Amino acid sequence: MRVAVFSTKEYDRAFLGRANRRYGHELVFFAPHLDMETVVLASGFPAVCPFVHDRLDGPVLERLARSGTRLVALRCAGFNNVDLAAAAGQGLTVARVPAYSPYAVAEHTVGLILALNRKIHRAFARVREGNFALDGLMGFDLHGTTVGIVGTGQIGAVVARIMQGFGCRLLGHDVRQNPECVERGLQYVPLADLLARSDIVTLHCPLTPETYHLINDDALSRMKPGAMLINTSRGAMVDTKAVIRALKSGHLGSLGLDVYEEEADCFFEDLSNQVLQDDVLARLLTFPNVIITGHQAFFTEQAMERIAETTLSNISQFEATGTCRNVVPLPT
Ligand code: NAI
Repeated sequence: MRVAVFSTKEYDRAFLGRANRRYGHELVFFAPHLDMETVVLASGFPAVCPFVHDRLDGPVLERLARSGTRLVALRCAGFNNVDLAAAAGQGLTVARVPAYSPYAVAEHTVGLILALNRKIHRAFARVREGNFALDGLMGFDLHGTTVGIVGTGQIGAVVARIMQGFGCRLLGHDVRQNPECVERGLQYVPLADLLARSDIVTLHCPLTPETYHLINDDALSRMKPGAMLINTSRGAMVDTKAVIRALKSGHLGSLGLDVYEEEADCFFEDLSNQVLQDDVLARLLTFPNVIITGHQAFFTEQAMERIAETTLSNISQFEATGTCRNVVPLPT
């Protein structure tokens, strides 16, 4: 199938190109994001392959359908950037990669927890300057602390497993219980209880209208003073300005982000020679107790291989049968 692959970097071309030797699709790589300005590039392609920052809203989907596209083969798990109702209205099939490596994201989450707790980012910079003083670097034993996991699906369950290994108590909040987590001794509680009782709160649910700004001023005020907040799910689950207020007051002890609500304007790009235009992100970067990574939690070799494999397999299945296993259903 001819596939217009958007938002591509060198690594996307390498992994998709390698896996495609087994599938034989005609992949055409485009560097820009897919949006209303660039949708013309997809003209005549029966399939497009977008990533997390491509904007598939009503007008873009309408334009895709009009110029011959039938399949939107996302090469990611989240699908919050696609207007599913509009896609269905245009007769477009939307597929995704529902699972590629929960370990990649879970391990990065735990990396942020460890680094923030033991101030490894600060120690690294200090020691390189010849400063071996320990003042300001004190952490706490993870053993015996309470970790609150919001969203106990594939990634949340692996986080639970790893944090149990550290000797943490596990609380969870989800719209449905995961039997593996229950077996592990994770206790499901309402969100307000989880926030009030957790030393570390980590977010692992999809971005939906219900989870948009789940962590706002009210939620932050319910958290334990000095608690840690981690978000490796989607940026807009956290009200960033509210989080800055909580950090300034000292109520929020530390913050680890791999995602940010306005990340589409800067993440995945080298902006090191430019003046950062996003004042909110710039403010966040000034805190000593904040670590931000640029949406890299998924970025392991194994995950990239599985993303490429599943994306191309989705396209082959669609080509052969008109549908595929990993179609994203319309929300009920
Ligand atoms: P999953 O679908 O296995 O688990 C999500 C869980 O969230 C489910 O158990 C679901 O019931 C729960 N949930 C849904 N709505 C909820 C709500 N309103 N309140 C509480 N829980 C709710 O998804 P998975 O694979 O664990 O991924 C979670 C999220 O991680 C994805 O949606 C995606 O946004 C993000 N992600 C981030 C990556 C990164 O590189 N930073 C990479 C991959 C995924």
